Amino acid sequence: MKTVIEPYRSRVVEPMRMTTREEREGFIRAAGYNPFLLRAEQVLIDLVTDSGVSALSTRQWSAMHGSDESFTGSRSFYRFSEAVRALFGHAFVIPAHQGRAAEHLLARAVIRPNDVIFANTHFATTRENFEAAGAEVRDLPIPEALDRTSPHPFKGNIDLDSLEAGLAQAGRRARMVVLTVTDNSRGGQPVSMANVRGAREICRRHGVPLWLDAARFAENCYLVKVREAEFAARTPREIAGELFALTDGVFMSLKKDALGNTGGLITLDDEVWAEAIRVQLLASEGIPTAGGLAGRDLEALAAALDEMLDEDYLTYRVASTRRLGEQIQAAGVPVVTPFGAHAVYVDGRAFCPHLPDERLPAWSLSVALYVHSGVRTWETGNVMQGRLDPASGAWRWPDLDLMRLAIPRRVYSQSHLDYAAEALVELFERRSSVRGLRFVYRPATLAQFVATFEPA
Ligand SMILES: Cc1ncc(COP(=O)(O)O)c(C=O)c1O
Repeated sequence: MKTVIEPYRSRVVEPMRMTTREEREGFIRAAGYNPFLLRAEQVLIDLVTDSGVSALSTRQWSAMHGSDESFTGSRSFYRFSEAVRALFGHAFVIPAHQGRAAEHLLARAVIRPNDVIFANTHFATTRENFEAAGAEVRDLPIPEALDRTSPHPFKGNIDLDSLEAGLAQAGRRARMVVLTVTDNSRGGQPVSMANVRGAREICRRHGVPLWLDAARFAENCYLVKVREAEFAARTPREIAGELFALTDGVFMSLKKDALGNTGGLITLDDEVWAEAIRVQLLASEGIPTAGGLAGRDLEALAAALDEMLDEDYLTYRVASTRRLGEQIQAAGVPVVTPFGAHAVYVDGRAFCPHLPDERLPAWSLSVALYVHSGVRTWETGNVMQGRLDPASGAWRWPDLDLMRLAIPRRVYSQSHLDYAAEALVELFERRSSVRGLRFVYRPATLAQFVATFEPA
């Protein structure tokens, strides 16, 4: 059969609220033209994120009902930490309430002013946390990652030559190397196992630990299976085991691939680092056997550590994302290819060539799509990554100005995604009508969450 179907069915449904174009024009104006500031009920199909919005399975719900909410040492924590240890293989398991909390703990516990940290690309919150601890962060993507249409199958790879040179130059200042799998900020592109092996070998030689920001490792492992010949006959779980064995530690949000509505994790082998992180955890997150999570959260996550690597589920997820991408690509919409797993990314500058960078093409497109259809998306471009150059006083814009259609796990049907594709294609046919926006309020960092705008 050609059709790839959802390997699950619905037993609980949540009604969606239809809105008119006039209502949406009012809603987005009141939200300062920032889709992030809309109320969720003003949105028809919410593709703003794939984070924390998964539909839970019957198995997760039943595990939650059996949770242990003891203050410390709960049965639920031990179930969670055993599931983590069995999958990741590291000695110490430290829960946190979400991914950026894990990054914050790591930054406070082990990163010192003047440290240098290398990554394929640091996710925005990772960069923020590491820089707040005084570190210098350097992104080393491969050149193909900057080319939206390069067919390279692993555009999330780190540039190994630059890594070698960077570590040699940084010397004792080098604190760690991070591979973000998949590389969310550059189109959700995967990292190959060959690249992880290469990075590990270089890290070993320089005595620097290799870590993963593993928010979407299951999707990365599935893409390794289908794109890297050596792994074709292996299960995603086997590939994950091999991936983690190459690392010294992992920090991650458990709100993405791990199908949690909340949750974060640090797992590592270094006892000194683990102790320093635990001390920090007690001050800011909670106790070491909870990390700010309820027992029922830990139960839902423990159950998901199996489900997230189910091959039928990952096959469907990747096929469904590709289908959405191919639908809009066939109509000429400029997209990032090859398609990843958690999202489809549209090139704002190519979609809106009439808008200069100052008029925020991808952000303006996201607003126009919401007004046109009620579909909410997210920008990973000029607003999220633009930086003021202190020397010249001018804005420096990122290589790619993208609008992301992120797909919540197990939530929307194929026809919901067809609707989103149709809306975007309709807008593309009248793309010169997309009106540029300019900042009204622009904070120094993390503008995407709080900035406000007006039509230019
Ligand atoms: C790659 C990556 N790292 C870290 C985070 C932060 O995780 P959280 O949202 O759970 O704080 C995200 C969230 O989108 C992410 O995509």
